[in-house]
Amino acid sequence: MSNQQNEAVLITGCSSGIGHASALYLARQGLTVFASVRKEADAEALRGLNEPNLVPVCPLDLTMHEHIPPILETVKRESESRGIAGLRALVHNAGGGGVAPVELLDLDAFSRELDTRLVGSVALVQAFLPLIRRTDSGRIVWITTPSIIPTPYVASIHAADFAVNCLARTLSIELKPWGIPNVMIRCGGIQTPAAERTYDDLWINLKSCPQDKADLYRKALQEWADSMVDFDAKRTAPEKVAEIVHKAISAAKPRPRYSVGHMAGAAAFLEALPQTLGDTILSMRF
Ligand SMILES: NC(=O)c1ccc[n+]([C@@H]2O[C@H](COP(=O)([O-])OP(=O)(O)OC[C@H]3O[C@@H](n4cnc5c(N)ncnc54)[C@H](OP(=O)(O)O)[C@@H]3O)[C@@H](O)[C@H]2O)c1
Repeated sequence: MSNQQNEAVLITGCSSGIGHASALYLARQGLTVFASVRKEADAEALRGLNEPNLVPVCPLDLTMHEHIPPILETVKRESESRGIAGLRALVHNAGGGGVAPVELLDLDAFSRELDTRLVGSVALVQAFLPLIRRTDSGRIVWITTPSIIPTPYVASIHAADFAVNCLARTLSIELKPWGIPNVMIRCGGIQTPAAERTYDDLWINLKSCPQDKADLYRKALQEWADSMVDFDAKRTAPEKVAEIVHKAISAAKPRPRYSVGHMAGAAAFLEALPQTLGDTILSMRF
C-alpha cells in the first residue's frame, strides 16, 4: 500500500449513496478526496462534515462538459497546495437511470443518462489523464452493475453499463503503455436513495405515457415491483462498496473487476454462461 497522505482521488456523484459513502471513507483513510456534486447545497453539506481531506468540487454535471475545465483547475490548484503530484484515481460513480420497459423509455432522460455515464465520463478521462499520468500508479475506477446481462425494465441503466464495460476494458488496453489499469467495481443491490426513487419515478412516468401502451405493461411491472421487495430488503450498505473502492485504489496491482453487494455473484455467474443460455434463464423469470 502507498503513502495515502500524498495521494488524491476524484469521485463523481458524491451527494448521496455510493459516491457519498466512498468519499467519506477514503478521506478518513487519509486520501485527499475531490468529491464532485452538481448542487452547491450538496457541496455545503459535505463541507459541513468537517473532514480535512474531503474537498467538495462543484458544479460538475456530466451532461455539461463546460463544467470540466474549472473542476480540473480546482483539482490541480488544491493538489499543488497540498504537495500532491497528480491524481491516483478517477472514480466514475455518477449516474441515475430509471425503471421502464424500453418501449416506454423517456427519451430525454435516457439521452441524459447516456451522456452522463458515457460521453461525460469519456470527457473526464480525456481531461484528467495528464494528471493521472503524473502519479506512479494512477488508475480509473468504474462503478457498474454486477454483470452485462439483459435485465428487463432497467435497460436505461444496463445499456450504459454494457458500454461502460467496453470503455473500461478498451481503456485498460490503450493505457497499458502508461500502466493505468481500469477497474470495474461491479455492484449488486446497494441500499441507496436511488432504489426508492426509481420505483416512485416508475409510477409517475407511467402516468405520462400513452395509456394504451402503459396498460400493456402495468401488470408485469406491478409483479416485477412486488418481486423486488425481498431483493430490496437485502440490499448491501454503500459503506461496503466504499471499502472495495479503497481496496481497488490502494492495491499495487488492482484486479480488473471486484464484485460487491446483494446478488452480485449470481449476476456475474449468469454473464459467464453462453449468451443464449443466460438469456433463456432470465426470460423464464418474466
Ligand atoms: N444502488 C445500487 O443498487 C447500484 C447497483 C449497481 C450500480 N449502481 C451505480 O452506482 C452509481 C451511484 O448510484 P447510487 O445508487 O449511489 O445512487 P444515488 O445515491 O442516487 O447517487 C447518484 C449520484 O450521481 C449523481 N448524478 C446523477 N446524474 C448526474 C450527472 N448528470 N452529473 C453528475 N452527477 C450526476 C447524483 O447527483 P444529484 O444528487 O445531483 O442527482 C448523485 O450524486 C450509479 O452509477 C449507479 O448506476 C448502483
